[in-house]
Amino acid sequence: MEAVQQYIQANRQRFLDELLDFLRIPSISADTKYKDDVLRAATWLSDELKRVGMDGVEIIPTKGHPIIYGEKKVSEALPTILIYGHYDVQPPDPLNLWSSPPFEPVIKDDKIYARGACDDKGQLYMHVKAIEAMLSAGQLACNVKVMFEGEEEVGSVNLGHFLESHKERLGADVILVSDTSIIANDVPSITTGLRGLSYVEVEVTGPNKDLHSGVFGGAVANPANVLCSMIASLHDADRHITIPGFYDDVEIVSDEERKQMNMAPFNEADYKKELNVNALMGEKGYTTLERTSIRPTMEVNGIWGGYIGEGAKTVLPSKAFAKISMRLVPNQDPDKITEMFRNHFTSIAPPSVTVKVTPHHGGHPAVTPTDTIEYQAASKAMLKSFGKAPLPQRSGGSIPIVALFESILGIKTVLLGFGLDTDDIHSPNEHYGLFNFYKGIETIPYYFMYYAEMKKS
Ligand code: BES
Ligand code: MN
Ligand code: MN
Repeated sequence: MEAVQQYIQANRQRFLDELLDFLRIPSISADTKYKDDVLRAATWLSDELKRVGMDGVEIIPTKGHPIIYGEKKVSEALPTILIYGHYDVQPPDPLNLWSSPPFEPVIKDDKIYARGACDDKGQLYMHVKAIEAMLSAGQLACNVKVMFEGEEEVGSVNLGHFLESHKERLGADVILVSDTSIIANDVPSITTGLRGLSYVEVEVTGPNKDLHSGVFGGAVANPANVLCSMIASLHDADRHITIPGFYDDVEIVSDEERKQMNMAPFNEADYKKELNVNALMGEKGYTTLERTSIRPTMEVNGIWGGYIGEGAKTVLPSKAFAKISMRLVPNQDPDKITEMFRNHFTSIAPPSVTVKVTPHHGGHPAVTPTDTIEYQAASKAMLKSFGKAPLPQRSGGSIPIVALFESILGIKTVLLGFGLDTDDIHSPNEHYGLFNFYKGIETIPYYFMYYAEMKKS
């Protein structure tokens, strides 16, 4: 293990330079204009896997963006770790809020600023470099397979089918994912839960054309006004969601576990300051840590309609729209929730408008156990690299494929992420700490070592 860590030390600068090259490729999966760039990122990454010595490296086409696969088998007797990550990134908009261009990475205050720096190119690349170090030192302690996708940010729509049709090839003892956060650089943690997702778009239609808001306003329903009051009615005064049956399947977390999760360090004043808000708002009866992990939520992600250009135009719009997401917790079913939303939202529409609800992608929530060798090895690896045992913590984010790893492949996942919730992923000025990048590269080989040891005994 000495040799592995020495190799990492000796190659620090090159690892970083390579990541910056990777970050220069705008692999935006949501925007078809960038299809060739997504493919370029896939090619770059697969070339890199070949260069570090992986076998069977392949760019596998899908109906959308390709999946990259590679493997290195050391011995039948050793356990196999399957690494998953995503090389696609979120669109960088709004561009004017970036301090430096999103695809021209810069290092400032020991952080890498670029779209994808943390989510997930920077975290994915830690694995590539850890594998390189283990191979170069001749100390790969487990067999390893890698699977990197280019469609995570658009719902991993083709990955489920890929899992179904490549069960054999993807066979492994554990899946290791770095696409989540730790609590703080001096408070390591391992993510033990992800929320699910139901995402819908709604369209409210009033009159058959935009109208003069003076001539017709007051007599004809304004779809923008109606949409706002419909959305407002989806929460009550205690910030509970009002859709009948919405909470029916919600897992009840024990008092003991709630007590445990609230012991994690959290400073409300710092949290508010960081976000520049004077007060927080959320479901009554739950703390901020609970509201962002074990409770379901509903958020408007975007809302539009009518005149949004410069100056004022007096118009009563014909249509108004919103994109609405619901974060789900164990045992809520995304399809069931989407149907509930559709029924409820249609039923509360006044007769003066018509409503259309279109479902987008969704995903199941996931929880990972802590009483397994797979988790314990991760805990031990972090204790070794951070000098502090990590806390288990449920996250508010979603990685829908994790539930499918379990249901299709029958393999449990360990969420060994190194980002921070303050890294501005999906926001302008996304960044990733150099500390976090290198700490990840350092920790992963320990995971391989401890996991092999613990599996043996
Ligand atoms: N890496 C994130 C998820 C995440 C972020 C988990 C922070 C834990 C902490 C992932 O890339 C992501 O953004 N997922 C989407 C869902 C997807 C279906 C678009 C999300 O959570 O909104
Ligand atoms: Mn991600
Ligand atoms: Mn993301």
